[in-house]
Amino acid sequence: QGAQPRTPTGAEPGREPSTTAQQGEFLTTSQGARLRDTDHSLKAGRRGPVLLQDHHLREKITHFDHERIPERVVHARGAAAHGVFEGYGTAEPVCRAGFLAKGVRTEVFTRFSTVVGSRGSMDTARDTRGFATKFYTEEGTFDLVGNNIPVFFIQDGMKFPDVVHAAKPHPDREIPQAQSAHDTFWDFVSLHTEAQHHTLWFMGDRGIPRSFRMMEGFGVHTFRLSNSDGETSLAKLHWKPALGVHSLTWEEAQLLGGADPDFHRRDLADAIESGAYPSWELGIQVFPDNAEQSFEGIDLLDPTKFVPEELAPVQPVGRLTLDRNPRNYFAETEQVAFNPGHLVPGIDVTDDPLLQVRLFSYVDTQLTRLGGPNFAQLPINRAHAPINDMLRDGYGQQGDHSGVAPYQPNSLDGGCPFLAGEMDGALEDLPVVVPESVKERALSATFEDHFSQARLFWRSMTPVERDHIVDAYSFELAKCYEATIRERQLQSLANIDGELCARVAAALGMTAPERTIPAEDGTDGAPVTSAPLSQLGA
Ligand code: HEM
Repeated sequence: QGAQPRTPTGAEPGREPSTTAQQGEFLTTSQGARLRDTDHSLKAGRRGPVLLQDHHLREKITHFDHERIPERVVHARGAAAHGVFEGYGTAEPVCRAGFLAKGVRTEVFTRFSTVVGSRGSMDTARDTRGFATKFYTEEGTFDLVGNNIPVFFIQDGMKFPDVVHAAKPHPDREIPQAQSAHDTFWDFVSLHTEAQHHTLWFMGDRGIPRSFRMMEGFGVHTFRLSNSDGETSLAKLHWKPALGVHSLTWEEAQLLGGADPDFHRRDLADAIESGAYPSWELGIQVFPDNAEQSFEGIDLLDPTKFVPEELAPVQPVGRLTLDRNPRNYFAETEQVAFNPGHLVPGIDVTDDPLLQVRLFSYVDTQLTRLGGPNFAQLPINRAHAPINDMLRDGYGQQGDHSGVAPYQPNSLDGGCPFLAGEMDGALEDLPVVVPESVKERALSATFEDHFSQARLFWRSMTPVERDHIVDAYSFELAKCYEATIRERQLQSLANIDGELCARVAAALGMTAPERTIPAEDGTDGAPVTSAPLSQLGA
């Protein structure tokens, strides 16, 4: 029952990874029997029927028949790399997580992805990008499962199947494969105006990044940090790329999508192979942990809102460098299992209703995708901290656990493993006050503003960025068969900004509707005089 130390390669000390290494002088069966011939099935005569007794044939074909696993239900297409994270120690006043301490180096695995397209779709599609990092810390694994856009489409996780059903290909014709330019997507976002803010970001240049190496990453949700004195703060987590943020033009994205659909994964692998290691700084925006959980009037639990950097600067707390390509795509990039619930002492969740649902969803989907409850034992998913979890048996079990008493406490296995005390670097249930309330299916009134941050974003754009956004909406909405959907979306654009709406309406040959909600600052179609892009976390 003792802890089982593991090595990063997955081999347990004293054991050779015999079936996984695929090395040796001879070709063998999976049982290690040497083979003379793997090209011909065993037949009753050269021109006769194949014999059922041919074990090697049956083993080879049967295994092949089961080679595929389901692709991720979202974020199916991705590319990944190994690397290292080094803490600066600057987070110490607010966060006690050991991996953020000065000079601590932690192995990491980062997977970038598109959200909507299937595994075989093209890299340069207009989409949000996933940016998920697994930190194999000494205090357990921490997963930062973020995106390249700081806000999300929906506010309540209950709506996640709906937004994904709308964004995925139409159920009848299975088109389009990887784009949002279709009726169901625009039907959804025009009916659920909370989605307008996120949609505006990815109609902009961030929807077609030049390279994974040139993307920001955002944890999106607000997290709760705690320091070694038990004091808490709220925080948003950001990745800032050393190479800066760069995008493709729409024309470049289309050409590359045809000429090299693997453009982004090739770029990542080639850069690492050539020693041009991509790197990002992890930064935090810190807010007081107040009862309202809001900052400067922004509800920190609403994942459709961000906090402009001019209000709360991003403070660097460490550096990520990706320096090693995976050896086997399936074993590592495909089988990696991220989960926003993988937390370490010092970093905790908040009651953001999107995050709360995510805490359920990831392990649930992985039970199917990775074939049962033991996927944490796959080499890429193994913690680099000692494991003593008392989880037993199940499909895909690799452990041959010793001991007779996998329960706690017991008096049979030579005493019990310790339960960690306050000072032992254990996970902590922070004593957060739950406000007195009644059970109900509803969201707070502070979630009702769907347009003001979208307006702020649009007005921070330079003229060329505005041109790109107008072109993107015009192209995508022109692909909708239903005129009512285009009209409804124009109404949302009118509520964001009159100039944006008028320009898209003109491109579509339609009449721009009047806004139905007032702009809180009384302006409309204002010229670019507001905050520069850099102040908006861009
Ligand atoms: C992947 C669910 C919101 C980022 C996934 C997967 C599921 C899922 C089921 C596939 C996991 C797997 O097969 O291993 C949800 C639900 C959400 C939600 C239910 C809302 C309630 C978000 C948000 C973000 C995000 C807000 C970004 C902050 C990602 C990323 C991946 C992913 C990056 C891919 C991880 C990888 O590379 O393997 N999500 N998601 N998701 N999700 Fe979410």
